[in-house]
Amino acid sequence: MFSRRRFLTAAGAAGVLAQLPVRGSALEPDLMELHATVNPVQLLPPDYPKTEIWGYAGGTPGPEIRVPQGGRVQRRFVNGLPQASTVHWHGIRAANSMDGVAGLTQAPVPPGGSFDYDFTVRDAGTFWYHAHNRSAEQVARGLHGPLIVDEKTPPDIDRDVTLVLDDWLLEPDGGQLYPGFESRHDRSHAGRLGNFISTNGQSAWTQSVKRHERLRLRLINASNARIFMLALVNLEGWVMALDGMPLPASEAVSEDLLLGPGQRADLIVDVTAGDGEEAFLARIEDSQGYAQAAFPVRGVSSSARRGSPAPLPPNPAMEMTGLDAAKELRLDMAGGAMGSLRSAVLNGQSTGFRQLVEANQFWAFNGTVGMTQAPLTTLARGETVRVTVSNDTAFPHAMHLHGMHFRTVNADGSMGHLRDTLLSFAGESHEIAFIADNPGDWAFHCHMLSHAASGMMTWIRVQA
Ligand code: C2O
Ligand code: CU
Repeated sequence: MFSRRRFLTAAGAAGVLAQLPVRGSALEPDLMELHATVNPVQLLPPDYPKTEIWGYAGGTPGPEIRVPQGGRVQRRFVNGLPQASTVHWHGIRAANSMDGVAGLTQAPVPPGGSFDYDFTVRDAGTFWYHAHNRSAEQVARGLHGPLIVDEKTPPDIDRDVTLVLDDWLLEPDGGQLYPGFESRHDRSHAGRLGNFISTNGQSAWTQSVKRHERLRLRLINASNARIFMLALVNLEGWVMALDGMPLPASEAVSEDLLLGPGQRADLIVDVTAGDGEEAFLARIEDSQGYAQAAFPVRGVSSSARRGSPAPLPPNPAMEMTGLDAAKELRLDMAGGAMGSLRSAVLNGQSTGFRQLVEANQFWAFNGTVGMTQAPLTTLARGETVRVTVSNDTAFPHAMHLHGMHFRTVNADGSMGHLRDTLLSFAGESHEIAFIADNPGDWAFHCHMLSHAASGMMTWIRVQA
């Protein structure tokens, strides 16, 4: 089968492009490629075998895509994988046709095929991209990478560090990916939790720094299901942004930071450790600390200690209005092991829990399993919506809305930070609100990807 690239080379780019329908502006014939392939990489420490992963540009995470705010991302996704795939730009408020959701916003790109992504980024911040076809398998195999949009005026920092956190389920013998991507146990419990944790695709990511240096840490949780609990050791830090959206004021990191699958946090940290000591971003598990990223201190920076950082410049359209007249919806999450779901609608039919289990489907939103013909709701463009998301299951979930960010509305009427992924623990209920200002069909699902594959996936429509 020809890939479009090879076809272009064979037939001459100019001739082929002349026959393509012009959609918006013409694409460059030499559009930068984002080529997904199967590759062996040294994921485990050097004395272990290489692990065969699926990655963009030969590695995992994929290459950091970096553009200025207001700039354009143009990539020709070339599928060199044995499965159809797509690329989703998580957290980017772009045109619906570029959202990369297989079966909803585009057809999956077959092996050997390609798709041209082209969109403008209006928000500065830390975003990421990942496969959005059979995501529970493809993201677990390594198909993701960082997408960084630079502010027009960068903050006063000495070093900008992107840290992609991932969690791998590997076979103890041979270090290859455990192939049970559709495991009933993982689907019905907390998702595909791994046994090997990496930072930027390495087991012991390390960067030497100087005392008093000020770093910006861009944390991205790219794992299928793991919720990271993070802490700073020998670093003094502030949360500057969450899910790509700047906070109105920097917030000192005083307790452990939770990062659910799909979520991001931008921190500014000052190295307080002395020359020869070590600072860490630590991961807390069972009240033990592990090095998620190590910063050995070599030397002292000439700059003196600085005060708390000024907030990042706000992104456009961060306000929340229209709450009083908002449309009100519910999203009741049910199912899973130890849950109370007895039956749910599957493929238009009321189905008992035993049959759901046989179909390897375990979760329902408002009594319905998985994608439906009709959207969860159809919204007028510009309409404000309030959704009560309640978790009547025994597990945490990470609800991700595509295309628009939301705020939690607290009981006292105050509002949370603008986010694209909501972490909801067993028994919790949250109200979220957003303005439906981005027309199109948008996925709304749990970012515990085994949950999304076994029922926790729906969509909303925003009218043009
Ligand atoms: Cu990051 Cu629909 O996903
Ligand atoms: Cu979930």
